[in-house]
Amino acid sequence: MSTSRIVRAAIIGCGSYGAEHAKFLSTYPGVKLHAVADLAVERAEEFRVKFGAGYATGDVARIWADPEIEAVWICTQHHTHAPLAEAAAAAGKHFLLEKPLAITLADCDRIVTAVERSGVIAAAGFKLRFFPAVVAARAFLAKPTLTMAQVIDDHWPSDFWANDPVQGGGNVLSQGCHMIDTVLHLHPSRPVRVYAAGGNRHHPSREIVDTAAITLTFADGAVANVAVGDCGVPPHASKFAMQQSDGARSFSLFNRLNSLMTREDKKITEHPAHEELGAAVIDAPFIAAVAEGKGSPVSVQSARRTSAVVLAALESIKTGHVVDLTAPPYAAAM
Ligand SMILES: NC(=O)c1ccc[n+]([C@@H]2O[C@H](COP(=O)([O-])OP(=O)(O)OC[C@H]3O[C@@H](n4cnc5c(N)ncnc54)[C@H](O)[C@@H]3O)[C@@H](O)[C@H]2O)c1
Repeated sequence: MSTSRIVRAAIIGCGSYGAEHAKFLSTYPGVKLHAVADLAVERAEEFRVKFGAGYATGDVARIWADPEIEAVWICTQHHTHAPLAEAAAAAGKHFLLEKPLAITLADCDRIVTAVERSGVIAAAGFKLRFFPAVVAARAFLAKPTLTMAQVIDDHWPSDFWANDPVQGGGNVLSQGCHMIDTVLHLHPSRPVRVYAAGGNRHHPSREIVDTAAITLTFADGAVANVAVGDCGVPPHASKFAMQQSDGARSFSLFNRLNSLMTREDKKITEHPAHEELGAAVIDAPFIAAVAEGKGSPVSVQSARRTSAVVLAALESIKTGHVVDLTAPPYAAAM
């Protein structure tokens, strides 16, 4: 993908996933990494040196005030997403916000409202939608009847910030959102009901949900099962995997969604595996959208829907009841 001009960018949050974006932004011809910011200024300075950014700062206000910066990558803990997205929108900066959009419905609404009011181009970091094997699977099977999907990781340390109920929300919110988002993206119809079972199996010191079996029903009658947890990567299917059928055709996505097998008229086709492309798959279309003033490649409204479905699944786990996604408080996000 090439862009018509160079976009001046900044990264906020110089941690592990900020580094993934920095690797791409420091080498891609369509972008100039103008600044990097982190509350820990020494981490920002490390990024400046490593990725050749224009300057490093510990003061995020400097990013908002810098008229040279057009687009900002927000790669911070989940409870900071809404305030940083609001500040970016108020400063007129386009932004790519790492997943999940946020871990409360109120924070998701704040982000969507800020984007709609300001008119900035905003994208959420749901990169799996852009993996070539996922794109091919979606084109192969347009109207699935039944989906089985999983995101099952190895054990996360209990003291990892993503397991903090406020900063991260636990494995199901932090990482389950990736697969729920992919499942929603591959179903043409809107989700109407969710039922889930699960709980906290591995992190007794934390008030979070780390394991879930989530069942979704869509308006067209299709159903999906999504398994989420940090209970050990399954060796054959891998951490990220998905299968879909529509009555006549089916596919399996495996090898972290980089490999695809399709089946039609009982004939199985094994497609060549793709290399994992990482953050580049979402960064390139976002940069193109900013350069050309086009719509977002992953709208914040669609990312809010993803968070809302995960939050509804957590409600179902807590209450033991089916949650109706066509009723408040979820309906507005569907
Ligand atoms: N798309 C993916 O596959 C993927 C993978 C990993 C993480 N992530 C997401 O990326 C985001 C960051 O995760 P990470 O693993 O890089 O975390 P991290 O802890 O490695 O880095 C976060 C950084 O943000 C900084 N920070 C926090 N609040 C800030 C603020 N208000 N202003 C400036 N800097 C601030 C911290 O000091 C830290 O250096 C999260 O949303 C996470 O879910 C996405």
